[in-house]
Amino acid sequence: MNILILGGGGREHAMYLKIKNSSLAKNVYISPGNAGINDECRININIEDFDRVSQIVKEYDISLIVVGPEVPLVLGIKDYFKNAMPHLFVFGPDKKSAMLEGSKVFSDQFMKEAGIPAPMASSANNLDRAISIIEDGPLPIVIKADGLAAGKGVSIHHDKKSAITKLEDIFKDNIFGEAGKSVLIQEFLEGEESSLFALLNGKEALILPTARDYKAAYENNQGPNTGGMGSFSPGEALSSSHIQFACENIIKPVLDKFQYTGILYIGLMVDRENPEASKVLEFNCRFGDPETQSILPMIEGDIVPYLLWSCGNNDALIPKIKDDGFYKIPQKTGCALNVVIASNGYPSDYDKGIALNLPDTLPENIHIIHAGTEKISNKIVSNGGRVLNIVGYAKNLEESKNLVYKFIESLKKTSELSDFFYRNDIGSA
Ligand code: AMP
Ligand code: GLY
Repeated sequence: MNILILGGGGREHAMYLKIKNSSLAKNVYISPGNAGINDECRININIEDFDRVSQIVKEYDISLIVVGPEVPLVLGIKDYFKNAMPHLFVFGPDKKSAMLEGSKVFSDQFMKEAGIPAPMASSANNLDRAISIIEDGPLPIVIKADGLAAGKGVSIHHDKKSAITKLEDIFKDNIFGEAGKSVLIQEFLEGEESSLFALLNGKEALILPTARDYKAAYENNQGPNTGGMGSFSPGEALSSSHIQFACENIIKPVLDKFQYTGILYIGLMVDRENPEASKVLEFNCRFGDPETQSILPMIEGDIVPYLLWSCGNNDALIPKIKDDGFYKIPQKTGCALNVVIASNGYPSDYDKGIALNLPDTLPENIHIIHAGTEKISNKIVSNGGRVLNIVGYAKNLEESKNLVYKFIESLKKTSELSDFFYRNDIGSA
């Protein structure tokens, strides 16, 4: 079958490489993709324009669309094609389910109704109400813009003055536009943050390899929050007991309420010693970036049957493994680790168009996954904040870390990397 992937980051390049290896895939296309993908497989369209996507589906005889980022899902791409082309498989949740990511107030309301463990929270749709919540609440306190804010909508405040200033920025200066018409104000939770990814088909869940994401820009988890500066899989914080707890207390209620399909990404605050103390920080309706770049190399075999299974194709033959009370996708032993190379200045302002000289051949078990890159006059240049992902696979965390950092050192000999930065402590901090 012909498959179309939507998106242009590291997550989508990693998906492209995994899907391309499928025995079920004839041609794999990506919109818009990046410089890591051959020009003939890239289709440059606006992926939020579903009429245009639909023309491409017809023109390229696409049978499966795999949606990378959240925006098309929250805009209802699944519902659009359910009406327009009922035989097309669209991997991801429908619009109602995607609201779990699209609105933090909606998500909090659902968690309260379903009894899902989450931080205490109140919502407000005007400044006076929001300030009164802060005045009466404990510190630190977490303020979240209700809608999609490209990872910039959450702030943590240790004093009431800065919290009130933030609320004024949101309600008076409109810094988040529509996304800031309401806010969710949450209790601050201590603990270890961890991400759990489950593949759902409306009735059942399959757990994916776990991963650890590094959100802070700089070493020792200092500096501003980013989309993620590195990851490794499997992660270390979630035991089988944590996953079992999440299956019963988080995933089951989501399935019962939404008949959810696609990836459910659960951001959790956990206590390693006490799985039952786990609480949901957020839901996302898609794969994580950069977690996907380390999770996909850990999945054994072909991923396309799982994507079809999730879309409701009952013919899809999918091996699954029963663990302690839950099913998971078969995974490899060993560890995959991913270090992000970002433009200096990211996550704030940065330059684009900086030339990258990448080697033609790579050491065994090393992959360069492109993110913000573009081809200009046949030369690869930077085109975003997160530019490259260096992914290594080895028999354990220590070895994958050594493999990746050794390769980055060798890359510095052939490429000028002074306009870029990366964290030296992925897998250590
Ligand atoms: P979110 O987009 O809701 O996951 O928030 C972004 C980041 O803010 C999370 O990855 C956490 O690091 C942090 N965060 C969010 N909510 C809380 C909370 N209630 N307590 C502590 N940290 C939080
Ligand atoms: N790595 C965080 C995210 O994908 O939202």
